[in-house]
Amino acid sequence: MEAKALLAALFCAATAHAGAADPPEIVQRTCVRCHGDNGVAAVPDTPHLDGQLASYLLDALDKHQKGKLPTEVPDHVPARLSLPELTAIAEFYAGSKASRPKQEADGQKVARGEVVFRNRCEECHPDNGREGDKDGPRLAAQNLPYMLKQIRLFVSGKRKFGFLQDEAYKGLSDADLEAVAHFFAAQDQVAPPQPKKKKRKKAEEPENPVK
Ligand code: HEC
Ligand code: HEC
Repeated sequence: MEAKALLAALFCAATAHAGAADPPEIVQRTCVRCHGDNGVAAVPDTPHLDGQLASYLLDALDKHQKGKLPTEVPDHVPARLSLPELTAIAEFYAGSKASRPKQEADGQKVARGEVVFRNRCEECHPDNGREGDKDGPRLAAQNLPYMLKQIRLFVSGKRKFGFLQDEAYKGLSDADLEAVAHFFAAQDQVAPPQPKKKKRKKAEEPENPVK
């Protein structure tokens, strides 16, 4: 917890000087190969990073650098990168306005997953996963195979749960967890615009319609 507060403070200090985000050199040289030009993954089973919360990204970069997140990528976040460099990377991806590709999600699983989501996940992944709270990341439109893999890693204990996240998973079946991943995958990353006409239509209706 303390380390996180310190990171957050340093993050604010570092971003106060940051200009408009160009991809940092390391991103252009190595990360693009898998995470794409703008954070939309270029290879399968890889998380999208565009529009993710900067604080979550910085925390994930820090954990990868220290070997605290399971990964198959050799030297994923090289030790030589300084905190200002990690901050610039987090800022760059967080600020990317790219849009994620639509994914095939199973309709029945999405419906079942929505129930699980409302009961268990919404608190920290609110607005259908378009926001993050209590250190949770945004998950709307995240890559489905990636999420399924992370959920298995959490359940098996190979990836450490976020604070109180283990409570949220308690008693859920594999099918429930798979369903909620389909629910997140099926969401728009950015909320679709609300239809505007509703209000006017209501005014045209009689106050007390006789049945
Ligand atoms: C060979 C492909 C590959 C390269 C190169 C790569 N990544 Fe990744 N990245 C992945 C995969 C796959 C994951 C999913 C977790 C894992 O297996 O590490 C991931 C996960 C991440 C995450 C965590 C995302 C989340 O939602 O939790 C961050 C942040 C990240 N990478 C940043 C970077 C940065 C910055 C670079 C360049 C310095 C980079 N990656 C280079 C494939 C790659
Ligand atoms: C109490 C808050 C909380 C609740 C409730 C919660 N999460 Fe999370 N979730 C987190 C945090 C914090 C992380 C980041 C963990 C870390 O630091 O590695 C996370 C990460 C994740 C990730 C990995 C995302 C990535 O980009 O790597 C997935 C997938 C996920 N949660 C799914 C779920 C599902 C499904 C539920 C409901 C069953 C749920 N979470 C409920 C807090 C929560």
